[in-house]
This record gives sequence, structure tokens and C-alpha cells, in this order.
Amino acid sequence: MVSTWAYGGVIPGKAFRVTAGDRVKVAFHNDLPEPTSVHWHGLAIRNDMDGVPDVTTPSVDPGQRFDFDFVVPDPGTHWFHPHTGLQLDRGLYAPFIVDDPAEPGDYDHEWIVVLDDWTDGVGRSPEQIFDDLVAAGRADVPGTDMGMGMRMRQPDMGGEGSGMGVDGGMMSDAGDVAYPLFLINGRPASDPEVLHARPGDRVRVRLINAGSDTIFTVALAGHEITVTHTDGYPVRPEDTGAIRIGMGERYDAVVELGDGAFALIAEPVGKRGSARAIVRTSAAAPTPPASQRPNELAGFPLTVSALQVAEGAALPAREPVGTQPLALSGSMTPYVWTINGVTYEEAMPLTIGEGQIGRLQISNMSMMSHPIHLHGHTFQIGAAGGTGPRKDTVLIPPMGGATVDFAAENPGQWMIHCHNAYHAEAGMMTRLEYTT
Ligand code: C2O
Ligand code: CU
Repeated sequence: MVSTWAYGGVIPGKAFRVTAGDRVKVAFHNDLPEPTSVHWHGLAIRNDMDGVPDVTTPSVDPGQRFDFDFVVPDPGTHWFHPHTGLQLDRGLYAPFIVDDPAEPGDYDHEWIVVLDDWTDGVGRSPEQIFDDLVAAGRADVPGTDMGMGMRMRQPDMGGEGSGMGVDGGMMSDAGDVAYPLFLINGRPASDPEVLHARPGDRVRVRLINAGSDTIFTVALAGHEITVTHTDGYPVRPEDTGAIRIGMGERYDAVVELGDGAFALIAEPVGKRGSARAIVRTSAAAPTPPASQRPNELAGFPLTVSALQVAEGAALPAREPVGTQPLALSGSMTPYVWTINGVTYEEAMPLTIGEGQIGRLQISNMSMMSHPIHLHGHTFQIGAAGGTGPRKDTVLIPPMGGATVDFAAENPGQWMIHCHNAYHAEAGMMTRLEYTT
């Protein structure tokens, strides 16, 4: 048992559930000892409700309240979390599910599965981890007398945790932080949640990676799963044994359950440990041993490059007004992460005119993956009107890249950043601003 920060005293926070087109009011009270904020990740809502202090929405001081009021335009699996420092790496996260009035929903159950990497109250605090990364980065700078030699980041070639991502490139990094625990729906592998159903039931699983520094590979032992949506938008159904999911991303999948008790495993890429839940369709079946690693984790997991947008979900096929580069880079020594060569403090915002199609050319110049997230919009991977999926967060593999187009239909100032909380804190953020 640990004490930490959470929404409404539970982890994950209780899911919000609305229907697309609904107007939502949220009376948010900050009972924490520090200022905080709430960002509605994946919702293309009005800019002043986006929850980014100093950019869109005031920070909420301890003891204060803020009243959110916005219309939710699009269906999908979304979530919310603070946009203040490293607070996301505590227990402050919750699902935000927007139902589609036009979707039949061909399944018997729906399970929300929230993944997290956990340290607070067990290991170091997020702030201590960040300070240690910064201090280690200083100590390692060659030429300082505290130098311990350069620490090079090498991708581990092959083995677990590797796989092809968007536009080539090996996905092989292990993040910057080793965590004592990995959680599914707030529970460690040693005390897993048990999800009940009957043999033959079809279940829609809504996967959310709320981790701060961990990419997961997810599989349900003995089952093939069919991916139907990512970041709220439908894709052409794609069967797979395992899904690779970066921080901030969501995948919806449908699975038809066998008869027995099965391990649902989220394996952290390149890290020790795993998150686990049990899916039980038979009272008599023995619980799978804690050490069981589903065979489905042995192959290549599905990544975003395997997905195509569903019919009707593409952006209109229009030429972008221009291409803006988004070059990702950084180092451990010193511990600094940048976009286009600069940290957030020095960033020149990207600009777009309302009604235009914008194109971002994302290129990863580092040996780590970065889940890049755009607020207030979804982009289409590849080109507007093409076959790539619609997303708001895309995992860019080491030395890889992606071109994404977005429709500028939601005026304001919007964050673009890496959803690794430590990278964002170390500078890997910029803004997209509408010109008037
Ligand atoms: Cu999920 Cu700017 O964040
Ligand atoms: Cu990053």
C-alpha cells in the first residue's frame, strides 16, 4: 500500500463515459498540495478547455476549483491526465470513453485496460528520478572532473522488444527509467484483476497506455485479437497475436474468448517485469502461473505501420499547404530532449492557417522511440486522403520517421510533444499556433 495522487481516490480514476456530441461539464477540485491541471487527451475540444497551464487554461491552485465545459465532437477511447510537470507519473490518469451513436457494437462485454509503469511510494518519486537523470547527465559530460565517461545509448539489436515500426527503423529502446512495478488497471502482476466472461463471448478491449516512460507489448495467451480502432478512429480490422503500444496511444481490439483462464500480459519493452490481468471464462480452470509468458509475445507485434484507415475515416484528400519539419533529438549527457534542435523554452511554434491541411515531417534523430502527440486534432499518417490510420499519438522508432497531415479546423494554441513524461519535462515539446 502506498500513498500517491489520484483522481477521486482510485487508480485509474473512474472512467468518464459520454456520447459523441454531448456537452460535458466537469467541476474539478484540486485537493493536492501543488498546482495541477487536467488535459483531455484525444478530445478535439475548444482550445481554452485543453488544460495546458500558461498556454490554454489556468493552472488550478491547491484548494481551488475549475469548471470545465466543452462539447465532445468525436467518439473513441480517450483519457485524461495532468499537464503539469511529472504529475502523470503518479496515479493521475483516467479513461474518457466517447460512444458512437452510429456504431452497432458487435460484442458482449467491454473491458477498459489501462497500462502504467509505477514508482511512486515504492521506488523514487518521479521528481527524484528526473533530478537523478539530470545529475547523471551532468556527471557524464566529458571534460568535467566528475566525469564517469560517456554513456552511449545502444539499441539492443533483436531479441525481445524489437520490431519494425513506422517507416523502418528498429524499435528497440528501453526508456530512461527502470520501474519497480507495472500495472493493469492499478494492480500489480502479483495481485491481478480478474476479468470474467463466458466461453465464446466477444469482448471489446480498450487499451490505454498511461505509462510515463514505458512502451508495452500486449497479448492475451492463446488468443488472436482483432484491432479495430486506434486513438479513437476506426481502422480496417487487423488480426494479430500482440500489440505494441506507446505512451499516450490507445488501441481497441475485439477478441472471442476460449474456455479457461488466460493471462493478459503487458510486457514493458526492454525492461524487466510485466503487468498482468487474468481473463476467466471457467470457474474450474487453474489460474495460469505468474511466470507464464504468452507465445503470442514471441512474434512481431502489430505496430501502427500494419494499420489502414477504415472507410470514411480518412481526412479529405487535399494538398497540404506546406511541410514543417519536426526533428526529434536529444541526449542523456546532458539530459536534454529537443524538437528542431531546441527545448520548449526556446521553441519557435509551428504555424497553420484555419481551413488548411498541414503536414508535419517527423524525423527521429535519436536512438530512442518517441510517442509524438498533437493536441486538439488527429492527423492521418502518410497523407490526407491516403490509406494510413488517423491518430493523435504516433510512436516514432529510433532513426525512423513519419509524415502526418492534419486538418486545421480547431483554432488555438496546441501542444505537440513527446508523451514520454521525462522527455517532455526535459524539453521535447513545441506548439502549433493558428495564424489569424
Ligand atoms: Cu496526453 Cu499533452 O498529453
Ligand atoms: Cu521522447
